[in-house]
Amino acid sequence: MQSDALAEVDFYLPSMTLSEYLRDVVPAHPLLGSALDFARPGAEKALRLLTTTTTEFDSDDTGRGDSYRRAQRDSSVRWRGVRQLLELAAESTPERPCTVLDVLGGDGTIARAVHEHAADLHDRFGILTGDLSGEMVAQALAQGLPAVRQAADHLFLGDRTVDAVLLAYGTHHIAPDDRLSAVTEALRVVRPGGRVVLHDFDESSPMADFFTRIVHPYTTAGHDYPHFSRTLLNELFEEAGAPADVVDFYDPLIVHGETEEDARRRMCDYVADMYGVGSFFDTLGGTDACWHVLEQHFGHERYLASLPDRVDFTPGPVVYRSHDTYVAEVPRAAIVAIAQKAA
Ligand SMILES: C[S@@+](CC[C@H](N)C(=O)[O-])C[C@H]1O[C@@H](n2cnc3c(N)ncnc32)[C@H](O)[C@@H]1O
Repeated sequence: MQSDALAEVDFYLPSMTLSEYLRDVVPAHPLLGSALDFARPGAEKALRLLTTTTTEFDSDDTGRGDSYRRAQRDSSVRWRGVRQLLELAAESTPERPCTVLDVLGGDGTIARAVHEHAADLHDRFGILTGDLSGEMVAQALAQGLPAVRQAADHLFLGDRTVDAVLLAYGTHHIAPDDRLSAVTEALRVVRPGGRVVLHDFDESSPMADFFTRIVHPYTTAGHDYPHFSRTLLNELFEEAGAPADVVDFYDPLIVHGETEEDARRRMCDYVADMYGVGSFFDTLGGTDACWHVLEQHFGHERYLASLPDRVDFTPGPVVYRSHDTYVAEVPRAAIVAIAQKAA
């Protein structure tokens, strides 16, 4: 599977060499084991680069890793979008279980969400979590999830080993120069007829603006990552040899509370942890002021009016009663490219 020199690469994970990972972890995950390939050309260089890479998602000392993972303990908040993305990814394999590589998988939010919220999908999806951050992958493995540390632009998976690939929830973190390689790699590992689904935010969207005006100035690591546009996505997939459909995608944050105030407060806490803006929110002096920031930055009226096609998205943050709870819903409009590998 790999040369002896590679197996001795220290700190493939924070406290594990590659050979320990292959010997002690992989055998527990047959689906992962059957897909892995550390012997591809360039693997040694890619591995050595990984072991010297620190990311903002490792910990709160390097950025917002700990607080990000704290937010993801509640995997229901983004479930509506996650489920839709999985359904888009699996559309080309309706009749059998679908193995999905989640390239920017963090500590396994999507895999965990399927387990926690969709008994009907347990047999439908086998999710392999990938991530650049050793800490994220270690945390995914600690929860018993099949996970691999790899960069999006050099995957340690064999050709045609998965049914679908997701590049989602953080695709803008892939450096612009590496994005074509990331899409090419996704198309390499997917089976003929399988789908690559890329989710991100339009440069002109409220989300991109929130990252620029709030996340970048008020977080330790900043957030200087260019987002995407419909044109860029079309060009990227054309260049990779698999033209994509690009669609508007409603991907809200949804939080429940016992009262209206409680729902708002929980939403503010979630956004604070997810985006690492807790210190900034603390300076605002309470839930009402934080919620006002959300209303200012997650208001989508103008953006929705500018879209080429009419969409039925909730235009701004709302709280409503549903059965015996209060629901806070914060809209996020994303763009999603869907490409199918030639059969
Ligand atoms: C916003 S988080 C999303 C994590 C998870 N998908 C979720 O929704 O909770 C983005 C993730 O992408 C990872 N990442 C950033 N750049 C990457 C790259 N070039 N290759 C692979 N993963 C990367 C980060 O380490 C981080 O865990």
